[in-house]
Amino acid sequence: TPTREFITGLPKAELHLHLEGTLEPDLKLRLADRNGIDIGQSTVEDVRATYAFDSLASFLAVYYPAMEVLQTADDFYELADAYLARAAADGVKHVEMFFDPQAHTSRGVPFETVVTGYHRAAAEAPERHGVDAHLILCFLRDMSAESAAETLEASVPFRDRILGVGLDSDERGNPPEKFATVFARARDLGYRLTMHCDIDQAGSIDNIRTVLEQVVVDRVDHGTNVVEDPALVEVLLERGLGLTCCPISNSFVSDDMKATEIVGLLRSGVRVTVNSDDPAYFGGYVADNYLALAEAAGLTCEEVVRLARNSFAASWLGVAQRDAYL
Ligand code: ADE
Ligand code: ZN
Repeated sequence: TPTREFITGLPKAELHLHLEGTLEPDLKLRLADRNGIDIGQSTVEDVRATYAFDSLASFLAVYYPAMEVLQTADDFYELADAYLARAAADGVKHVEMFFDPQAHTSRGVPFETVVTGYHRAAAEAPERHGVDAHLILCFLRDMSAESAAETLEASVPFRDRILGVGLDSDERGNPPEKFATVFARARDLGYRLTMHCDIDQAGSIDNIRTVLEQVVVDRVDHGTNVVEDPALVEVLLERGLGLTCCPISNSFVSDDMKATEIVGLLRSGVRVTVNSDDPAYFGGYVADNYLALAEAAGLTCEEVVRLARNSFAASWLGVAQRDAYL
């Protein structure tokens, strides 16, 4: 069975990671202090006590308010830089990181401030941490399509600093087709496309069908419920489409890690990848996620190597760069 050392030693890409989900309690306290914000918590234990939930909705209800400590470009830089250092320690060589601009613009922080801080950390990451880092702009699906469209237009001057767009937040009542026009425009702008089809959310199998057949994407975030429809699993196989699975996150927002489903898909040849989602909240970075899945499902070392190779194959690296890792 694979050990933590074996997992950490494998070069990996991380493809499903929310930068705002890497806000560790100690950094939250430091930023609150620096920005003169009273968050009503003064110790790491106080903050950790608020980082508790048992569903996607209850997680999001903690996640958005915590972001108020992020105010300046330096704050966003420090958040991303701390994550990149942590990822490097887990053997991550390439990362495509989500960020939620509307969670910041809606409370008065300019789009430019957010992108400037995050991009500076990404640009310095090869030299500082030995990690190649890129940004994926996520729209909040529980906000309007008009707000998403405005956010997309705000991104145009920064297009060369953003690799693709995604869709996150509360999926219930907010299906992919709500954003069909915005995603069509994003594709025309040259962005790669991905969307969350979260674990066990109402209608998630219908939403997976929509992102495979209608609002066609280049990757699917989570997407594990695809096991409910073998015909859709066939579509994933035919297209070699990646799924970005997050075992530890699943155990918080659903009844379990979904190890059986994830490993079943892996063994049937689907391009399954393992990722950490919101590690500061769910308590596990990427190596912890590989290890948890390996232990729960009895993965062999060869299967863990396959997961790591899948992470590069499902990445949006150029073919030549990607092949250097495969
Ligand atoms: N935002 C941050 N993490 C998320 C997740 N796992 N699902 C939906 N929205 C999110
Ligand atoms: Zn996510």
